[in-house]
Amino acid sequence: MPSTRSTTTRMTGLAVAALLVASLTACGQEARGGSRYKADTGKGGTIGLAMPTKASERWIADGQNMAKQFQQAGYQTDLQYGDDKVENQIAQIENMITKGRKLLVVAAIDGSALTEVLQRAHDAGIPVISYDRLILGTPNVDYYASFDNERVGELMATYIVEKLKLAASGKGADAKDPGAKKYNIELFAGSPDDNNTKFFWNGALKVLQPYLTSGQLVVRSGQTRMSQATTLRWDGGTAQKRMDDLISKNYGEQRVDAVLSPYDGISIGIISALKSAGYGTQGQPLPIVTGQDAELASVKSIIGGEQTQTVYKDTRKLAAQAVAMGDAVLNGKKPQVNNTTDYDNGKKTVPSYLLKPVSIDKSNTQLLVDEGYFTAGQLK
Ligand code: GAL
Repeated sequence: MPSTRSTTTRMTGLAVAALLVASLTACGQEARGGSRYKADTGKGGTIGLAMPTKASERWIADGQNMAKQFQQAGYQTDLQYGDDKVENQIAQIENMITKGRKLLVVAAIDGSALTEVLQRAHDAGIPVISYDRLILGTPNVDYYASFDNERVGELMATYIVEKLKLAASGKGADAKDPGAKKYNIELFAGSPDDNNTKFFWNGALKVLQPYLTSGQLVVRSGQTRMSQATTLRWDGGTAQKRMDDLISKNYGEQRVDAVLSPYDGISIGIISALKSAGYGTQGQPLPIVTGQDAELASVKSIIGGEQTQTVYKDTRKLAAQAVAMGDAVLNGKKPQVNNTTDYDNGKKTVPSYLLKPVSIDKSNTQLLVDEGYFTAGQLK
């Protein structure tokens, strides 16, 4: 229940008690679409935007897009970046609560680390939208705006399967066909503290598993569990080191044919390691390397023939979704959602709106220009 300190001190004990009862009653109505925030409706006020890092251009764009769109909708914005440090993000959110921000939109650095601070947000009557990454272990998250994260993983893996023509070769994925051509693949996963990581992994593995089982795809390192493949904070340097290690320990005479990479920054690290090991020449072309986010450097790498694929998730559309959700919540309306089953955060199934991701390779980078995501000049 939002109330400024001055109004609270002016209240009589009775009024405070009445307010508490009203607030508790309103809390029970939360499932009906943010009505517990109804007391503080209307335009104006400042929205707190807590983003994880500026190290990746997508989060810079996410923050800017939301700031712009919230401002167009009549709000002010307080945009903060946590520099990928959990304690920074918690301090930033605490500060937003102290400053009386009307709504918080949070892309968590560590999805499980915000329970206490979001309890404080709840106590102050501030609604919370989880942005792109689901916030875990707290009932104090109202809505979730993201992409279909399992589909992201499927797109990467399907790309590998089609590029290697696995479905067409041999007798089919499940048959142990000694004649089927075998390919070597290595698998990378995202940050273990990001809820999206398991969705990307599960989506990808669902597609790859039949070929791993049939032996058409071989993971020479044997590192086929997600816990062996994760990359803390999605760090490209960490991925590069792991790839260096995988190549030197497992690929003496053998070739890496494909690498499942869940994020463009990780793909850049993987490609550096491959090039250091002699890949990227005519005699030894680079393997298929997937990615995610359609970041400029990676789209250029795709055009230049190094990275093979990425998954385009239009940050402008995600921002628009979060802004629409936030505006609805602040006006006592029910935000539009399209998934109420898949995003259980351990305390509640968070009503979600999931956008559709799109696979990009050399053949369709023009789409990014057509949609105004990049200019033609940027891709040269
Ligand atoms: C994930 C996000 C990806 C990618 C990654 C690294 O949470 O869904 O699109 O941006 O973080 O930043």
